[in-house]
Amino acid sequence: TILILDFGGQYTQLIARRIREVNVYCEIVPYDISPEKIREYKPMGIVLSGGPASVYVKDAPKCDPEIFKLGIPVLGICYGAQLMALLLGGAVERAEVAEYGKTELVVNNNVPLFKGIERETVCWMSHVDLIEQLPENFKVIASTAHTPVAAMADVKRKLYAVQFHPEVEHTPLGKDMIKNFLFEICDMSADWTMDSFVEQTVKSIKKTVGDKKAICALSGGVDSSVAAVLVHRAIGDQLTCIFVDNGLLRLNEADTVERVFRDKFDINLIRVDARERFLSKLKGVVDPEQKRKIIGNEFIRVFEEEANKLEGVEYLVQGTLYPDVIESGSKVASTIKSHHNVGGLPEDMKFKLLEPLKNLFKDEVRLVGKELGIPEEILYRHPFPGPGLAVRVLGEVTEEKLDLLRQVDHIFIRELKEAGYYNKVWQAFAVLPDIKSVGVMGDERTYAYTVALRAVTSSDGMTADWARLPLELLDSISRSIINEVKGVNRVVYDITSKPPATIEWE
Ligand code: XMP
Repeated sequence: TILILDFGGQYTQLIARRIREVNVYCEIVPYDISPEKIREYKPMGIVLSGGPASVYVKDAPKCDPEIFKLGIPVLGICYGAQLMALLLGGAVERAEVAEYGKTELVVNNNVPLFKGIERETVCWMSHVDLIEQLPENFKVIASTAHTPVAAMADVKRKLYAVQFHPEVEHTPLGKDMIKNFLFEICDMSADWTMDSFVEQTVKSIKKTVGDKKAICALSGGVDSSVAAVLVHRAIGDQLTCIFVDNGLLRLNEADTVERVFRDKFDINLIRVDARERFLSKLKGVVDPEQKRKIIGNEFIRVFEEEANKLEGVEYLVQGTLYPDVIESGSKVASTIKSHHNVGGLPEDMKFKLLEPLKNLFKDEVRLVGKELGIPEEILYRHPFPGPGLAVRVLGEVTEEKLDLLRQVDHIFIRELKEAGYYNKVWQAFAVLPDIKSVGVMGDERTYAYTVALRAVTSSDGMTADWARLPLELLDSISRSIINEVKGVNRVVYDITSKPPATIEWE
């Protein structure tokens, strides 16, 4: 294991992903972790992340300096580098010129960290503080025009610090530096692979669950699908999946779930037809947050009713992922998107939780899914909100509007896939604003619905840009929608980014 001490930097998760990408397991832990606790992990290396603070201010987050005496290799990055300098007796000060962006770097490629790297290379800088004075026994191993100590090391004690960010793509050889740290300095082997993950996890689920029963709320999304198939591989028929058709799903979605999980994987699947229940609860409701609340509550009710019909269930399978459980140094991760956990289950349910994916990033979950034979149409599906089409039919939700929106959405997605654009965007969908407008078809005047199309690029859904789809493609999509869907006479494309807009319209 490699441990990453999180000082709240925006790239901490990226460091973890870079390490895992080269098949080395790592975990992110709070920066104030004790040396004893660190020893329990038996790490082969430690990374100190970046962070927004200055090391010399009062209350700057600091790790225990004992960490440097454990005999474990350490790599400090940006804030982590400065902290290493300070804690070991060097000095850090505010720079005269801040350095941001791509910067030319000269490295000493005789040290293990820069083995095989050209003497002159490029790195990504983002700092206002500088290491002004090296700690004892340290040497400069890289510099830039404005940063004399762009990297330093005590090679003997295997302590390394880089002022720049090797984890971002703008440091083209950063990946090689990270590999050097892992394989040349920490002596790691590349044995974190998804097939070994599946094998180990199946074993441990078997051991945990024994002959008891488990249930899973299957949504058909990536996370719950992979979790379900993984647990099924471990305990077979002791697992029952409950899939709630709330009537707010996309075209053919419920049938696909049934086909894949019941027919292909032979999983015990209960498909609950709750369409009328949800629709009647939503009657007359126009406020978006009200809709979310109603749908969330109703889902819990339906799920509990079904779960209660089963006897002797002890475990509840959930597709929780690593980013949801990281205890971040800045504690920011946990406060984001609290209104987005509709579809989640209450914490006071009587089951014990089984969360087989809780140490994985999304891209790893997809790899596990692939390993398990889950079809790509599920693994690479765009994110879909828990409240479903209810937040895409603006205003009151009715069966008629849902039907119309389903058809429009289906055509949009179909054409994006045909044109090879589906996988290039983060999310694409149709929205039905509560608007009718005038049109003309043949010799006749029409008065029908306007639909809006939304396609965005994003890396995490927190910010997004509207996708620059080719105009010809938009033209063809618009024509198909008007020709194929009765009741629509106008198509508009949303050209707003997030912020200021959100991805969804409600
Ligand atoms: P917004 O619209 O806030 O959405 O920019 C960001 C991401 O979250 C999804 N989303 C939701 N997911 N329940 C969910 O499970 C919700 O209530 C919800 N609202 C938005 C949205 O689709 C996008 O991926």
